[in-house]
Amino acid sequence: MHRRLVGGSKWRDDIALSASISIHKLSGPLLGIRGQYRSMLHVFPTLDALSEAAAQRVAELLTSEEPDRPYLVALSGGSTPKQLHTLLATTYRDEIPWKRVHLFWGDERWVPHQSPDSNYRMADETLIRDIPLPFGNIHPVQTGLSTPLASAEAYEREINTFLRELDRPGLDLVILGMGDDGHTASLFPGTPVLHERHRLVAAMEAPPYAKVKDRVTFTYPLINRSRHILFLAAGEKKREPLTAILNDREEALKQYPAAGVEGLVTTEWFVDEAAVGRKAA
Ligand code: 6PG
Repeated sequence: MHRRLVGGSKWRDDIALSASISIHKLSGPLLGIRGQYRSMLHVFPTLDALSEAAAQRVAELLTSEEPDRPYLVALSGGSTPKQLHTLLATTYRDEIPWKRVHLFWGDERWVPHQSPDSNYRMADETLIRDIPLPFGNIHPVQTGLSTPLASAEAYEREINTFLRELDRPGLDLVILGMGDDGHTASLFPGTPVLHERHRLVAAMEAPPYAKVKDRVTFTYPLINRSRHILFLAAGEKKREPLTAILNDREEALKQYPAAGVEGLVTTEWFVDEAAVGRKAA
């Protein structure tokens, strides 16, 4: 069942109370199809408007609860989140308590951090270098290790240690994009990583059409333990997977990996009119 909030209205985190209930579901399957899909769809006329609203939502989440509680966020790669990053680093820079924020990456291309293909580099250029984030709060995938598997294992250890120390099941917020083929993070259609049920982070080989073959990615078991998921999707090329996911998520999962993602508390889609094929209300 989809709960749709269309347009840029201000909303409350009104189902936060269900968090404790959802956490118990961790003992069940982690793929994400847990009966009810509590997703919210927000449609905006343009990528600019979508980015404004997403930045407002992220700022709202980062300023929620006690300001000292560490807030664990995973960023995505791709180009859609660039404007969101810039807004967080300008309009919202001074209101966000950056000291509490820890940044991780939902996926990374296995290239040096200086590479133009690096997701870390994109986030550094659009966000990190312009905000007062303590150095120790930046947790990139270490792509300089001997193999992608070594990088994935090291990242999993780092995240596990973090979660154990904080006594939490997962991250607070995972920001994701979606490819034209319905992939999200580096969960590509038809790849073995989609069947991973134990590892939290995996090394994988993306299909030949993807920009960089070797990648490290959060798996469903980690993504679906996050409290909040925020998907950003813009442009007509996203229409096919998005329509399929919104129409029948279980059916869509056969083809589009993004359909398997569900946050413990919220799953929100910030999309533009071109992606959804209809006007914002
Ligand atoms: C990556 C990503 C990937 C991305 C989508 C959407 O490293 O490639 O994290 O999952 O989010 O491909 O990318 P765009 O925002 O460029 O459409």
